[in-house]
Amino acid sequence: MALPKRAIAASFLPDRYRYWYSLSKLAMDPLYEAMPGAFDDEREPLLDLGCGIGLLLHCLRAGGCNLPYVGVDTDAMKIDAARDASARGGITDANFQVCDLSVQFPKHHGSVALLDVLQYLPQQAQGTLLAQAAQCVSKQGKLVIRTGLADGTWRSAMTRATDRFGHLVGWMKTSFKAQPSAQELRAVLQRHGLQAEFKPLWGRTPFNNWLVIARRSASAAA
Ligand SMILES: C[S@@+](CC[C@H](N)C(=O)[O-])C[C@H]1O[C@@H](n2cnc3c(N)ncnc32)[C@H](O)[C@@H]1O
Repeated sequence: MALPKRAIAASFLPDRYRYWYSLSKLAMDPLYEAMPGAFDDEREPLLDLGCGIGLLLHCLRAGGCNLPYVGVDTDAMKIDAARDASARGGITDANFQVCDLSVQFPKHHGSVALLDVLQYLPQQAQGTLLAQAAQCVSKQGKLVIRTGLADGTWRSAMTRATDRFGHLVGWMKTSFKAQPSAQELRAVLQRHGLQAEFKPLWGRTPFNNWLVIARRSASAAA
């Protein structure tokens, strides 16, 4: 099902900046079209780490995915925008909270989304956040990550450069810190009993973005 991109973007009005930002993100980044599919077999409550303005929630609801949702982000202005837009979009059952994940981690059991957030944390903090996220994943839940990967390719360099530029021009309050490698990611998830599948998710963009879906491995879930 195609996402109702204009209707989702319209829920950010009268803020025209957020309207155009969300419309262009929804139109150009394959992440959002992929999300209803990534969660379509999902019943577990979802914790969206670094939720930004809450686009994931709109995409899930538009795709008929009604699982309980909590979104957290360190940027209080984005959380306000997410609350306003979800209410304007007629979503009354979502919860958004300000939370700096490098300082605290919300209590949760179910599924977790971590979309385009890891690169804003130093390498050691990435490991801590991944461990905390993995520990929340229930037997039936999953951890869905979208991240750039450090693999020496031109896409990887382009992704780092764009993340740095995004901070310089003020799109992102937090600055780029580090890109994880697939090996590091897989290892930390495995240590916490999760098996991960990696798929490229860059669409027509020049970025080295990957979708990682991790579930509790059969032996760990038993
Ligand atoms: C590129 S945006 C991604 C937003 C959203 N996940 C999406 O894909 O639409 C990265 C988000 O991570 C948030 N973030 C960065 N560092 C954070 C931290 N320490 N704690 C919580 N959120 C953080 C930023 O405020 C920003 O909203």
